[in-house]
Amino acid sequence: MRTMSISSINSIRGMADHLPEACEILEQVEAAVRDVTNIYGYRQIRTPIVETTDLFRRSIGEATDIVEKEMYTFQDRNGDSLTLRPEATASCVRAGVQHGLLHNQANRLWYLGPMFRYERPQKGRYRQFHQFGIEALGWSGPDIDAEIISLGTRLWEILGLGETTLEINYLGSGPSRLNYIESLKDFLKLRSAELDDISQKRLETNPLRILDSKSLATQKVLVDAPEILDHIDAEERRHFDDLLKYLELMGINYQINNRLVRGLDYYTGTVYEWKSNYLGAQNSFCGGGRYDGLVAQLGGPDLPAAGFACGMERLVELYKQSKSIKKNSGDIYVIMLGEAAENVGFPLAEKLRRANISTICNCGGGDIKKQLRRANNSNMLIAIIIGDEEAINGQLTVKPLRSGDQQLKVAKNEIINVLRLQLERETSFFR
Ligand code: HAM
Repeated sequence: MRTMSISSINSIRGMADHLPEACEILEQVEAAVRDVTNIYGYRQIRTPIVETTDLFRRSIGEATDIVEKEMYTFQDRNGDSLTLRPEATASCVRAGVQHGLLHNQANRLWYLGPMFRYERPQKGRYRQFHQFGIEALGWSGPDIDAEIISLGTRLWEILGLGETTLEINYLGSGPSRLNYIESLKDFLKLRSAELDDISQKRLETNPLRILDSKSLATQKVLVDAPEILDHIDAEERRHFDDLLKYLELMGINYQINNRLVRGLDYYTGTVYEWKSNYLGAQNSFCGGGRYDGLVAQLGGPDLPAAGFACGMERLVELYKQSKSIKKNSGDIYVIMLGEAAENVGFPLAEKLRRANISTICNCGGGDIKKQLRRANNSNMLIAIIIGDEEAINGQLTVKPLRSGDQQLKVAKNEIINVLRLQLERETSFFR
């Protein structure tokens, strides 16, 4: 009989599996996120991964890379156009409006979850990635901008990240923004032949985005371009100056980057990004700012808002580089040689688990050599060996797996105390 070879199936390009070791590190970072959001008084929100396509078109903007070419959009069986969320600010605002969270109240929200963008995958850039984000809905002042920035700064500190740079700018809104766009366009039109192709197109569709063009030719032109901060009005200037004052009061370093614009259209005032030289080409790991028009734009009250989102994969990369990560270990591997041993071993394992000692029982049988090999290959710290003799006389063999300490016989009723002491020793040997 001929056997057909069956091809294996891989994950989709740009969508990574996070294997157990990577998950352990992710969990450490996520725990820090939970701690810091809790300490700053932010409350978690979870929104669906799929939303109507219209939500993102109306919020992120038609003339952005995300909406033009990066969204995973499809029709459901009903013919409705749906999109896998490329970001979650729009969803938070949608949920706030939908559930009446925004009537006469302000909200400090945070979220964590997968986002999807059809970008060209490379280091630090994926098609499914994860964002941790903050959205503060309902405050207009620079005080909340400063609070959000200090929350981020505190998180980098807790995670022990190396050097990071906070770049900050003020985009202005309303007439001052339009004014600036007009003078920028006037200036760039005179030198449009020197711009790269994409920037030439953006001159009509989204001129602000030309400011962060990566093209050297365009950057050369931009050296003489008019600057946003010279076009914002007095009130906007005060907001920006007050924010900088708050940051200085809190000892938060920043760099003003008057070319910083963001890839989403909803920003209205303060914008910022944290960057690190340790990330390679995708050096921005967190970005955000003020988006005062979005709530009304999505059918809610005329309410100011601000927030940021941080790429978890990039954050984890920085976290891994900045410290020697301790591997997580479990505690006990129970080796059972025969039926009498199993009668003692399985209930013992349950007793240990109830005492918060993590325990794996050997499954699939095997002689002592095989079971010991499995114990050594597990990430457990101690093996308990139960044979016929141990099962009868109640004296269990405790074999330390990491320290090299001698194995010892322990009476069953003493086992938990002995294990706790030995586990402390073993932990320091586990890397
Ligand atoms: P964003 O700059 O598009 O902003 O994304 C925020 C962060 O998500 C980036 O700094 C980056 O770390 C990460 N990120 C974005 N795309 C990818 C990708 N393809 N692969 C890996 N990481 C990625 C927003 O999404 C806004 N919603 C931020 C915000 C919240 N503004 C106000 N509130």
